[in-house]
Amino acid sequence: MTGARVRAETRNGTAAHEGYMPGFGNDFETEALPGALPQGQNSPQKVNYGLYAEQLSGTAFTAPRGQNERTWCYRIRPSVQHVGRFAPIDVPHWKSAPNVLPGVISLGQYRWDPVPHGDEPLTWITGMRTVTTAGDVNTQVGMASHIYLVTRSMEDEYFYSADSELLVVPQEGRLRFATELGVIDLAPQEIAILPRGLVYRVELLDGPARGFVCENYGQKFDLPGRGPIGANCLANPRDFKCPVAAFEDREVRSRVVIKWCGQFHESFIDHSPLDVVAWHGNYCAYKYDLRTYSPVGAILFDHPDPSIFTVLTAPSGQEGTANIDFVLFRDRWMVAEHSFRPPWYHKNIMSELMGNIHGIYDAKPQGFVPGGVSLHNMMLPHGPDRAAFEHGSTEPMVPVRQTETMQFMFETRFPQHLTEWAATEMPLQQDYADCWASLEKKFDGTPGEK
Ligand SMILES: [Fe+2]
Repeated sequence: MTGARVRAETRNGTAAHEGYMPGFGNDFETEALPGALPQGQNSPQKVNYGLYAEQLSGTAFTAPRGQNERTWCYRIRPSVQHVGRFAPIDVPHWKSAPNVLPGVISLGQYRWDPVPHGDEPLTWITGMRTVTTAGDVNTQVGMASHIYLVTRSMEDEYFYSADSELLVVPQEGRLRFATELGVIDLAPQEIAILPRGLVYRVELLDGPARGFVCENYGQKFDLPGRGPIGANCLANPRDFKCPVAAFEDREVRSRVVIKWCGQFHESFIDHSPLDVVAWHGNYCAYKYDLRTYSPVGAILFDHPDPSIFTVLTAPSGQEGTANIDFVLFRDRWMVAEHSFRPPWYHKNIMSELMGNIHGIYDAKPQGFVPGGVSLHNMMLPHGPDRAAFEHGSTEPMVPVRQTETMQFMFETRFPQHLTEWAATEMPLQQDYADCWASLEKKFDGTPGEK
């Protein structure tokens, strides 16, 4: 059977959800069967329906109250029965840091065309292609960036990462994440966060799916402080959605794959591990619609730092210097007077990997196409190409609405190292760095605008 708060089933018995609960970091509670959730305590001597109580800890037990995250699950079987003996498996394209290869040059400004789907059927696990790694998965600092190319749903197959939380940015095709805590359906222009240790299965909802993943080895993503902006705008907490409880009671041979310290292992069990009937807590998966992001920007002159567009930030322990910032460039008005409106030229101690979800990016009107990726690594100069510079220098200073545009950035304090796959198999634009070559020297020693 599947959970009571389930209104439909898909081909392979995935529980479809009734909805989501709003709020970022809330203490949620949800039950798929009436009375399944204990009230007033976490560990009753006996749990209703014969369920087992189990805690999933997302932070150390003694983490400060404001950061402490855990969820109590009431499930058909405890998780100790959802794994057996572990056997190592090879997942050759999913890499973890450190992955510094002597023959691979990560120093350079790089841009790639979208990676096409191949003929090989690929799941969420086998279809993950690591582009860059940064930091160290064993010491839980840094991140990895991936492109996923999924052409096949997981069937009686489940996955969890002990190494990381995953930030998923779809670019093409819809995905369903059937998790222990409920079901998340995800489409382009939305994102999902899958926390460390949470078991899930990934299914295609229509055709092949492609997108980006930021794998966060470090402290969890959080909302950035707004400072003088105040209590509203940017990403508002109510727009984050957490799934309601949904469970499966299926006795079927199942494979569970675990990513642990950069290695992959498989284990076989005789039932679905998605058997949480009720849960309460603040450690959960969630989704967010990027179209609800309320950007704040220049309303008189100049171009603020891109940090103004931070959706989520994963702290590094050094205040203001993120392990990862997830930054969004969406449609918006450009109204600054007597200003160069595109992003300015710069070098950054942070390392910036960008992806184009759809539309045209204002600093690179050509070449950075939807599904494409660019990398501007630590202390490597970059900025508008010739066309963007000439346009930005001469455009009339009237309000302009940038429409049909959505790009993102995974920005990390650590240098990002290319994988061998990224260096040799991704469709690199060999001439990308030439986009600045034709910038004119306008200086001739005489004053005045040129
Ligand atoms: Fe930049």
